[in-house]
Amino acid sequence: MNTLTKLALGLMGQLGPRPPVGTTAGTIELPPPHSGGGMPLMEALRKRESQREFEPNALPQQTLSDLLWASAGINRPDLGGRTAPSAMNSQEVQLYVALPQGLYRYEPTAHTLQLEAATDVRRVSGYQDFVDTAPLDLIYVADHTRMRLVPAAQREAYAFAAAGAMAENVYLYCASAGLATVIRAWFDRQALSQAMDLGIDEQLLLAQTVGTAKGNG
Ligand SMILES: Cc1cc2nc3c(=O)[nH]c(=O)nc-3n(C[C@H](O)[C@H](O)[C@H](O)COP(=O)(O)O)c2cc1C
Repeated sequence: MNTLTKLALGLMGQLGPRPPVGTTAGTIELPPPHSGGGMPLMEALRKRESQREFEPNALPQQTLSDLLWASAGINRPDLGGRTAPSAMNSQEVQLYVALPQGLYRYEPTAHTLQLEAATDVRRVSGYQDFVDTAPLDLIYVADHTRMRLVPAAQREAYAFAAAGAMAENVYLYCASAGLATVIRAWFDRQALSQAMDLGIDEQLLLAQTVGTAKGNG
């Protein structure tokens, strides 16, 4: 769907998710992440960029596993420490994963995806048309109940900062793995919150599309 149609539907309160594509599992067990190897860091930094043209083909499960671990995974199991920082280690940013077959939430401890809604919310995750068909949208959501130790006036800013760190991890992973990605803030917040059935303490922060760059499929 093109951007103008989305804007018009959004104004009328009619921008909604589509039915799921394929089989929707309640839980997706991810293979253990490959947390070794990859491109040297300085080379990944040299290659980091935003891209906005994607092939529709699904990412392999191992790739999904590795990129979710890069964004929100546990890298110090003894402490429950994550690959990205958070203020006072609140770990308040929940990583939602919009796949054609459903909307899932990444569970870092179990390294699984838990079904949140058996709908395809990709179209609602951004005004730009490529989000409808790119295979994966990450959606960063702040859970304000996890930020009770953070002064109230700072909570939103800190959550955006934490989501930004997670998104940069994804950028670097994508540079290393030869994938395309773009972080996005231009979406209909009301329509997406509704499509995701977010609660009163949950705040949409950012979205990020990931896939194979067009022409590389
Ligand atoms: C907070 C934030 C919001 C952004 N929102 C969008 C967006 O909605 N759509 C988009 O295509 N790019 C978006 N971008 C990506 C920027 O346009 C991009 O990073 C910038 O043009 C620089 O290009 P580069 O990332 O390739 O260096 C956003 C970037 C940031 C940091």
